[in-house]
Amino acid sequence: MMATLFFLALFLLGLLLALRPLLGPKEPFPEPPRREELLRELEVLKEEVEALEGEEKKRALARMVEVERLLEGYRPPAPRPFRPWPVALVLGAVVLLGVGLWRYTLPRLPGETTVTQRQEARELKALADKARRTGEVEDLLAWGRRAYELQAFDQAAEAYLEVLKKDPKNVEAVRRVGILLFMGGRPEEARIFLEIAQGADPEAAEGWLFLGNLYFQEGRMQEAIAAWEKYLEAGGEAKERVEALIAMAKAQAQGGKDGRSVYEARCAACHGLQGEGGVGPRLKGNPILKVPEAVREIVLQGRGTMPAVPLSEEELEALLGYLGSL
Ligand code: HEC
Repeated sequence: MMATLFFLALFLLGLLLALRPLLGPKEPFPEPPRREELLRELEVLKEEVEALEGEEKKRALARMVEVERLLEGYRPPAPRPFRPWPVALVLGAVVLLGVGLWRYTLPRLPGETTVTQRQEARELKALADKARRTGEVEDLLAWGRRAYELQAFDQAAEAYLEVLKKDPKNVEAVRRVGILLFMGGRPEEARIFLEIAQGADPEAAEGWLFLGNLYFQEGRMQEAIAAWEKYLEAGGEAKERVEALIAMAKAQAQGGKDGRSVYEARCAACHGLQGEGGVGPRLKGNPILKVPEAVREIVLQGRGTMPAVPLSEEELEALLGYLGSL
């Protein structure tokens, strides 16, 4: 609070100093109409002087000199010399104070200040520079870990792939590359990496979590359940969430045989519990259901934004039967 007031006061002071030339008293300036009059008088005097003689000519000349002198006063004032340094100093001070005010006193989201974000970016860049310079596995790992923590996944992938080139047996790198592949939507390759990694280091909980997610996505419930149970054994942190996942997978594995449960487990999220539609189009009363071969094709291959849903032949039969009754 004190800092806010302090910076605010300094900021206003700086602003005042910077603006003072604009606010100050105006330069004295003669009133314009007189000037025109004097110029006209001068013209007349010039003509008269031509025609006049003796004393009168002298008097007219004297008047001309007087008028000229008066006109002198109306010359536009010489521009004040521009002194850049004081202005630059004051402006600099204002900018600095403004930045200070903005940086230290504006309210921010908890834990998410731009300051820490900038620090993190700088830290990450330093780690990346060092890793690229030395090419040492340790440095690459340090970079990859920090990038992964900060969710800079492109950099994490770059770092861990580089580790794998140097040390193909590095389990952490194999596991993280697997996770990154999975997150990048490449489950086939991800599975290869994750299975190798978890075989080599079954203590690494995060690998089990993602492997379970992967199996679940592929519809391999028993394997998903096994992987998530290993996650819990390894002491993974997201205990409650994973227990719920296991319960869901168990329900799906058991009820997987009748069409309704298959539908609820694999289709309802997008097409609605009663087939009323949602992310995906309405299925209830949809003429496409009269063509089971088309539905089979769509389910197994996916279509447009609908992903392929791998099902066993048994599940598919049950599902098609259920859809026919919708
Ligand atoms: C992730 C969401 C999602 C899931 C899960 C999903 N669908 Fe779809 N489905 C869609 C979307 C989106 C479309 C529209 C695709 C397009 O044509 O671009 C669609 C289209 C369809 C169509 C074609 C409808 C028409 O009128 O053309 C059928 C049939 C269908 N889905 C059946 C199923 C079945 C059966 C399941 C479960 C095994 C399922 N979907 C699971 C999202 C999903």
